[in-house]
Parts: sequence; C-alpha cells; structure tokens
Amino acid sequence: METERILLRPWREADAPALFKYASDPEVGPRAGWPPHTSVEESLEIIRTLFMNDTTWAIVLKETGEVIGAMGYGPSCDCALPAREGEPICGYWVGRSYWNQGICTEALRLMIEHIRLTTSIPSLISGHFIDNPASGRVMEKCGFIPTGETVVDPSQGRDTPIRVLRLELR
Ligand SMILES: CC(C)(COP(=O)(O)OP(=O)(O)OC[C@H]1O[C@@H](n2cnc3c(N)ncnc32)[C@H](O)[C@@H]1OP(=O)(O)O)[C@@H](O)C(=O)NCCC(=O)NCCS
Repeated sequence: METERILLRPWREADAPALFKYASDPEVGPRAGWPPHTSVEESLEIIRTLFMNDTTWAIVLKETGEVIGAMGYGPSCDCALPAREGEPICGYWVGRSYWNQGICTEALRLMIEHIRLTTSIPSLISGHFIDNPASGRVMEKCGFIPTGETVVDPSQGRDTPIRVLRLELR
C-alpha cells in the first residue's frame, strides 16, 4: 500500500534499530498505553511477536526508506474498549520528529481502504486517552465517529479516561 509519500509494508527483523529509535521515546508509547522500548533487543522481540503478521505494517517514508511508525488492526478486541463481538481495534504511532505532517492520517486512510477492499469487516473501533487529542483528530479525519468514553482498569495501566471512536466500513 502506498501514497506518493509513504509506504505501508510488512515488518522485518532488520527494522529493529529503526523501531528502537522512535519507540524508545517516552513521548510516543505511553500516549498509546505501552512503555518505551529499552533496547534494540526488546524492539526485535516486539517485531517478532507482535508485528510480523498480516494486519500490522511499518510506515516507511519513501524519500528516505526510513521506518517512521506503525499501523495495524487486531483481528478481535480483547481490550477494555466496548467493542462489538469480533470487532477489530486499530492502533498506530509515528516517530515524534514526523508529527503534525499528516502522515498518520495518510497511513490510516491507506489501511482503511485496504480493509474495505480485502475483507468484509463491518466496523473498526479505537480509542485515545483524552489528554492525547491528536490521535482523536487522526481518527476523525478518517471518518471515525465518537461513541463515548471508557476507563481502562488501572491495574492494566493508566486510569485516564479513553475517548472511544468507531468507523462504520459498510
Ligand atoms: C497521534 C499520532 C499518531 C498522530 O500522528 P501524526 O502523523 O502527527 O498525525 P496527523 O499529522 O495526520 O494529524 C494530527 C492532527 O492532530 C492535530 N493535533 C496535534 N496536536 C494536537 C493537540 N494538542 N490538540 C488537538 N489537535 C492536535 C493536528 O493539528 C492534526 O490535525 P489537523 O490536520 O486537523 O491540523 C502521533 O502524535 C503519535 O504517534 N503519538 C504517540 C502515539 C499515539 O498517541 N498513538 C495513538 C494512540 S491512541
């Protein structure tokens, strides 16, 4: 999947140093509910166990070939979001030096188009911490509609309220 500016492609083990570069930034992971990566080895393990599948992609800047983020959706939602049965959750992040250039919106639109064309999935759900409005803007620009708020069990991380949004695909 590609636009003039970016490519969504499968993750490779060789991406570990690039992943570590951005995922070790304390401003990135915690906004999405995961801790910053602490070593290239940990990033490699994340690639192997979480990213090397059919529904997760590296966001690559075509001009430089650099991996600058991740985009993906889960086959079903086992999180705290009020998902419909079997409804996938989508998630994403972009390295801080590339924020506010429209890159995540472009990448999410690409993935949505891919899901529409290659699956019969009726809807996607996602959410963002209310103190992370940029993520909500990305979803809204892609057609997601707010459906309310929920709170993650504090034992799973932050107990900050989460704004929930859904995209009807059909
Ligand atoms: C959220 C994130 C993915 C956005 O990526 P991005 O490439 O900067 O997104 P875009 O440039 O496509 O769009 C960002 C939008 O948020 C807006 N925005 C940025 N900061 C904002 C703020 N503090 N309040 C409100 N809107 C804000 C931008 O103006 C832009 O909207 P616009 O086009 O209407 O002007 C990126 O900030 C990130 O990776 N954050 C850390 C991880 C994360 O939060 N992941 C999502 C977890 S739910």
